[in-house]
Amino acid sequence: MLELNFSNMMGEVIGEKGISEREIEGLKTAVFDIDKRIKSRERPELAFIDLLEQDVSEIKKIAGDIRGNFDNFVILGIGGSALGPRAIIDALSPFHNLDKKPRVFIYDNVDPRTLDRILSLTDIRKTAINVITKSGSTAETIASFMIFWDNVEKSGADHSKIFIATTDPEKGNLRKIAKEKGLRTFSIPPGVGGRYSVLCPVGLLPAEVIGINTEEMLKGASDIHKRCSDPEVWKNPAYLFGVLLYLMNREEKRTINVIVPYADGLKPLAEWFCQLWAESLGKPGAGLTPYPSLGTTDQHSQLQLWMEGPEDKVIIFIRVNDYAVDINIPKVFQDMDGLNYLGGHTLSELIKTEQESTELALARIKRPNMTIGIPGIDAYHMGQLFHFFELATAFTGFLYGINPFNQPGVEEGKNFTYGMMGRRGYETKREDVEKAREKKACWRV
Ligand code: PA5
Repeated sequence: MLELNFSNMMGEVIGEKGISEREIEGLKTAVFDIDKRIKSRERPELAFIDLLEQDVSEIKKIAGDIRGNFDNFVILGIGGSALGPRAIIDALSPFHNLDKKPRVFIYDNVDPRTLDRILSLTDIRKTAINVITKSGSTAETIASFMIFWDNVEKSGADHSKIFIATTDPEKGNLRKIAKEKGLRTFSIPPGVGGRYSVLCPVGLLPAEVIGINTEEMLKGASDIHKRCSDPEVWKNPAYLFGVLLYLMNREEKRTINVIVPYADGLKPLAEWFCQLWAESLGKPGAGLTPYPSLGTTDQHSQLQLWMEGPEDKVIIFIRVNDYAVDINIPKVFQDMDGLNYLGGHTLSELIKTEQESTELALARIKRPNMTIGIPGIDAYHMGQLFHFFELATAFTGFLYGINPFNQPGVEEGKNFTYGMMGRRGYETKREDVEKAREKKACWRV
């Protein structure tokens, strides 16, 4: 079971820059109240909690078909529609494409160079394409969908065999196209927003395609949900995680939370978490800026800043207790001081020791940090991590008194893009951009 060790956040360990038990006690009533709001599903977007009990038989069936009949599996989506699948694939099937079929390509941008490579590496007739968009109209996803659609058309292959649409059950352009063209579909439940959707067909279909048992993943999520259902903050790791970061932000003026998994395969999980946290909590008067990092690699790139730079960060480690495989460091170069201490140890010993040492080094100079420990990297514990972070993020949003499920701040940029790309109704936005361009031209060297 996932475990949260928060000793190095507490005043008793790191002194006045830490949090006191009294401060946590002070939020107890608020936590009880939020717990009630979560349990009563006060907001429809809390529907992500109800994903834990779901029938995955159709997902397994279609995934089996994809595994049996296609060489490639392309995912088209962006934000919440792509980061979850990538986190699953990198954690549970690293270097997947080097020796496994179907090869998986996630196209979550509109960079023409990337798409050009994907198209040249894949035979479209042997490629299943999963287009994932809740709204059914996200420009990036739809643009790449249109390109693939046209390519399939030109190849003479049958769209209805190649495309799988994962979208809203009723609304949106993609649902409309899917109905008209007879595409296979999966639904993202109405209340479930993109960044809270990894445990629905958005993440579960790609997981099954690469051979992951999604029932295990859901079981992990369900078990951590039970563990995080106690209204008593001291007994609830998800609520405590939120309370600690909230207090660090409000009382200690920390504005950045760095997340550092000590496992290469969990780097995309860190990126997934950062999107979840940033889009959910980046609202007026709230939020810390999340930063995705990687241990031990970033000890040689970022750690100096965490140790001696501005005192604005909280470091969150993810520690893996058992890597399932291990490699001995051989006793070579035994006569060389400075190298010979390594021989006889293992790589997992080294990575775990480095994590613990970094934690201690930060604590010694009173820099707050906490550690999420997981027994291993498998479907069960990935399910736990996903659900833990989703629940903790929604909870923290309520603690700040903001809506953790919308993202109004991203609209204006989209509107300017629509204007420039000629979408009807956005003509004035185009004029705005053109005026801004004139101004920009004055200040150039
Ligand atoms: O979390 C979110 O809601 C967003 O990041 C969306 O996932 C992203 O904007 C893509 O939206 P859609 O799934 O509608 O294409």
